[in-house]
Amino acid sequence: MGSIQKKPHALCIPAPAQGHINPMLKVAKILHSKGFHITFVNTEFNHQRLLKSQGSDALHGLPSFCFETIPDGLPPAQNPDETQVFPTLWKSMDETCLGPFKSLLTKLNASSSPVTCIVADLFMGFTLDAAKELDIPEIVLWTSGVGALMCVHEQHNLLERGLVPREASSFLANEHLDTMIDCVPTMSERAKKASAIIFNSFYELDSDLLDALSSVFPPCYGVGPFKLLEKEIDESVEFIKSNLWKEENTCLKWLESKPKSSVIYVNFGSTTVMSHQHLLEFCWGLAKSNCLFLWIIRPDLVDGKSAVLPPEFLEETSSRGMLASWCPQEQVLNHPSIGGFLTHSGWNSTIESISSGVPMICWPFFADQLTNCWSCCNKWEIGMELDSDVKREEVSKLVIELMNGDKGKEMRKNAIDLKNKAEKACTSPFGSSIAACIASSFISLVDL
Ligand code: UDX
Repeated sequence: MGSIQKKPHALCIPAPAQGHINPMLKVAKILHSKGFHITFVNTEFNHQRLLKSQGSDALHGLPSFCFETIPDGLPPAQNPDETQVFPTLWKSMDETCLGPFKSLLTKLNASSSPVTCIVADLFMGFTLDAAKELDIPEIVLWTSGVGALMCVHEQHNLLERGLVPREASSFLANEHLDTMIDCVPTMSERAKKASAIIFNSFYELDSDLLDALSSVFPPCYGVGPFKLLEKEIDESVEFIKSNLWKEENTCLKWLESKPKSSVIYVNFGSTTVMSHQHLLEFCWGLAKSNCLFLWIIRPDLVDGKSAVLPPEFLEETSSRGMLASWCPQEQVLNHPSIGGFLTHSGWNSTIESISSGVPMICWPFFADQLTNCWSCCNKWEIGMELDSDVKREEVSKLVIELMNGDKGKEMRKNAIDLKNKAEKACTSPFGSSIAACIASSFISLVDL
């Protein structure tokens, strides 16, 4: 397992998408504060995007926190700001990245600080092959919810036994179904090669699933929510950021002037795209609800064109709505003025909302978001689902219910309850996430 080092060296490698880079950067910062030397590996494409959105200072790093890149194997993008199509990207990386990754490891291992462990996103499965070959322990980070990994596992079983047709694979439902389904067996098999699997979650949220998964995979640990563990992070790495879009901080100022729990926050993450008609349904649904809203509209949110909002909508809601193209989401969710979150149910958004005690309206787009939505609505009772073919009447009905209705009150209470449990898991000496950090190789790697 490698020779004794003065300072352990963790190589952290996220899948190249916003919802994957963010949690991996948190893991890297936590490990750094525990005394690790960090090498953080982005794709060349994302490194350039980060330089543009955050400036070179945010990626300059420190002697003990360095950045490296590997190519993603795709031809140069026509638009360097565009969101890469994940299944295509995943396939390309899986076919081309093992070589460059091994070269990087060889280079680092020849330095005065050889790599003592790898923390990789499960989507970067080629890293597990390299880790095995070079005898370096690897922890896998699953950036989605625990339920989603259970779906991957069960789906693999069902497909292999011929018990479900490929078309019925709702977990991965999107237009890239085939490519995504092809990655399920690989992911499921590769996960078994890791030393441990860690989640941005906590035991109390999904104890049944964590226990069940630990019997088929390497030990599975809820070591989050990372947001709440961040208190452990040393200030020296605070300046390192991972947003691929430039944040607009003016919305925080706008929130300052609003009463407690009065604003619905609307954000569909980094990958969701919608039709222009759906955009209009959201517009008029929000207008009809009469509630205060903060709506983040990414430049590429609308399929095939830029999002144009009707002038009548802008005029009608100018006194109660705030629009921006990207925001510091965790700060927004933690703001006392926020009373609810209309979300696409990406896992980061879901766990960040839980960490802030904010109930949700869920409009899942694809993949794990369907499972996350189901858990919010049926298991934890902190969410209400919006039909995929969204209509303005339903938007306004659910927004009013969430912000002012009895069901909204009940969901807020449940969300605050979960937030308290999450805080306990991360901060009390016997908290489940602290214990999981110790039980998993996450911390014991320090002693290698
Ligand atoms: C994707 C998948 O959709 C998600 O289901 C999977 O679990 C991870 O990869 P994404 O769609 O971007 O991620 O959603 P989400 O998981 O919610 O991640 C978005 C991240 O970007 C969050 O950490 C959020 O805080 C951040 N964000 C988003 C901002 O900081 N500002 C914004 O305006 C929007």
